[in-house]
Amino acid sequence: MTYQTIKATPIAGALGAEISGVSLSDELSDSVIAKIRNALLDHLVIFFRDQKLTPEQQIAFARRFGPLEEHDFVKGLPDHPEIIRVVREADETSLNFGGAWHSDVTHQECPALGSVLYALDVPPYGGDTLFSNQYLAYETLSPGMQQMLAGLTAIHTARGPFGPEGRSKTNWQSMQVEPSAKALEEMEHPVVRTHPETGRKGLFVNKTFTVRFKDMTEQESSPLLEYLFKHASHEGFTCRFRWTPGAVAFWDNRAVLHYALNDYSGHRREMHRVAISGDRPV
Ligand SMILES: [Fe+2]
Repeated sequence: MTYQTIKATPIAGALGAEISGVSLSDELSDSVIAKIRNALLDHLVIFFRDQKLTPEQQIAFARRFGPLEEHDFVKGLPDHPEIIRVVREADETSLNFGGAWHSDVTHQECPALGSVLYALDVPPYGGDTLFSNQYLAYETLSPGMQQMLAGLTAIHTARGPFGPEGRSKTNWQSMQVEPSAKALEEMEHPVVRTHPETGRKGLFVNKTFTVRFKDMTEQESSPLLEYLFKHASHEGFTCRFRWTPGAVAFWDNRAVLHYALNDYSGHRREMHRVAISGDRPV
């Protein structure tokens, strides 16, 4: 067992910190895991450089924060179904996976608590990931808007990316995506979510999965939703992470949006992702 002193160095004013002094492949003590968990709650997304993780080690680390789940529409590795390969080959010109502001799997009744993404192959430039603090997105709205949103429920569905006519038909060819009619199912979540651990309120809508407000049409919902999507990714709420081989990002999916930039044409990028099971948003 390794006992190290971990240190968190913020990378932006809004959120995000690089954690040093810990090797994620080690069998970490409960106290180190507790410090990492606190760093995640404080900084919303944390990064670790120069890690060397086998699939087993990535799974073992993530499991310290809760049970892992398999993706509904992306097949995992044959021996490790919890791990999905997020990959785009150098000769692919289609959309990249995660290339829009979103939080993961909010079409589910209980969207993931967080995801742990490990960089195996990174382009020489480009392919950064942006993150946005949704506590700030909520807190910077006017009291009138906050009050109105408090009474609203949003409908989330995976039909855009993963439905039978969804984007996966023509994108993500190097990934094991399996579109299905299950993606047409709809799920209700509050527009303002109270974080189960910090008690803070955050905005909880995203362009990939949120299609309308409950009891309203898409046309009626669209103007306000579009405003919220734009507001949620205001530059002042964000940080930007430059990947290096062996880097790991661990984000709190309950309080951040993320966006994988598509600016590395001609280069290969491969990541391994696991998702930790979360609570039903309230
Ligand atoms: Fe994602």
